[in-house]
Amino acid sequence: MNKKKILITGGAGFIGSHLVKYFVNKYPDYKIINLDNLTYAGNLDNLKDIISKPNYEFIKGDITLSAFINTLFERYKFDGVIHLAAESHVDRSISNPDEFIETNIIGTLNLLNASRECWNDDFSDKLFYQISTDEVYGSLGIDGLFTEETAYDPRSPYSASKASADHLVRAYWHTYKLPIVISNCSNNYGPNQFPEKLIPLAINNIKNNKNIPIYGKGENIRDWLYVKDHVSAIDLVFHKGKKGETYNIGGNNELTNIELIYKLCKVMDNRLGRADGESAKLITFVKDRAGHDLRYAIDSSKIKRELGWSPSLQFEKGIELTVDWYLQNEKWIKNIINRKYEKYYDKQYNIR
Ligand code: NAD
Ligand code: TYD
Repeated sequence: MNKKKILITGGAGFIGSHLVKYFVNKYPDYKIINLDNLTYAGNLDNLKDIISKPNYEFIKGDITLSAFINTLFERYKFDGVIHLAAESHVDRSISNPDEFIETNIIGTLNLLNASRECWNDDFSDKLFYQISTDEVYGSLGIDGLFTEETAYDPRSPYSASKASADHLVRAYWHTYKLPIVISNCSNNYGPNQFPEKLIPLAINNIKNNKNIPIYGKGENIRDWLYVKDHVSAIDLVFHKGKKGETYNIGGNNELTNIELIYKLCKVMDNRLGRADGESAKLITFVKDRAGHDLRYAIDSSKIKRELGWSPSLQFEKGIELTVDWYLQNEKWIKNIINRKYEKYYDKQYNIR
C-alpha cells in the first residue's frame, strides 16, 4: 500500500521532471502520478531513468479539461497535488496570450475544484501546492528585494496568468479552507531546460557557432537558481510548509544578462577548446522584449529561517554542470531542434 498518492502536474517539463525523479527515488512508499499534456515543452526523454519504477505512473492529459480532471481525481483520490503544469515562456505569452489564460488560470481552477470535491471537506493530511514565480511581483529598480509581502504587480501575460492562479489558490484557502501552500521562485537553470529560455538557447547557439541574441542592452537582472536546489526547496515546503503560507525561493545569484552570457561563454570556450573570448564574439544585441521587466530579486530569508533551506550551488558551479550536461546530451537537444522549433526561432529572432 502506498502511503500517499501525489499528483504532480507538468512533470514532463523542465522543473517538473527533476521533481518527479527526485520524489520517485526519495519516497518509494509514495505513488507519484505525473499528469502532463506533452505540449512542445513536455518531453518524456526527461524521465527515462524512472519510467519503470513501481511507484511511478504517467498520464497524458490536459488540465484545462474539467470533466477529465474530475474523473481522474475520483479514480485516484490523490492525497496531495504539486501543480507545475503551465505555459511558462514570457516571449510566447507576448505573441500568444490566450493559451496562458486557459492553461495557467482555467487549468489551476479545474485542479482546485477537483481537489475540493475529492477531499470533501476532510482536509487532514491533504495539500494543494501551487508552484509559482517571482515574476508575479512585477519589476524591481536597482534596489530592493521581493518578499512574501510584496504586492502583486504582474506585467506580462505570463506573470498575469500566474498571479491570477495564485489569487485563486489563496481564495480557496480563505473561502473553503482548502489546505494550500504557494512558493514563488526565481529563474531556474540546469539540465533538461527547453532551449527557448536564455541559458539553453545560448549554449546551443554557441556550440553551433550561431549568434547569441541578447535583448536590448543585456542590462536586465535575474536571480538564478540551479533547478535541483528548487526541487529540494519544494520537497521541504511540501512536507514542512505551513498551510496557507507563501515561501519565496531564490538563488542569491543576481546577474545582468550580459554578465551571465560572458560567464557562460568562458565555460563554453574552455569546454570546446576555443581561445578565450571566441564564443563571446557571437553576442548579438537584438530588439528588446516588449515590457521587459528590469530586475527580479528574491528575499528568501523566510524559507531559510522557518524551514532551514538555502541554495547549495553558486552560479559558477551550476553553470559548469549545466554546460557539461548539454554537451554530453546532444541527442536530447537534437530531438528538440525540429522544424517547429526552427519556425519559432526564425519568427522570434529574425537572425541566424
Ligand atoms: P516547462 O514549460 O518546462 O514545463 C511545463 C510542463 O507543463 C510541460 O511538460 C507541458 O507539457 C505541461 N503542460 C502545459 N500545458 C499543459 C496542460 N494544459 N495540461 C497538462 N500539462 C501541461 O516549465 P518549467 O520551466 O518546468 O516550469 C514549471 C512551473 O514552474 C511553471 O508553473 C512555472 O510557472 C514555474 N516556475 C518556473 C520557473 C523557471 O525559471 N522555469 C521559475 C519559477 C516558477
Ligand atoms: P528567460 O530565460 O526567457 O526567462 P524570464 O523571462 O522568465 O526571466 O529570459 C531571461 C532573461 O534573458 C530575460 O531578461 C530575457 C533575456 N533573454 C535574452 O536577452 N535573449 C533571449 O534570447 C532570451 C530567450 C531571453
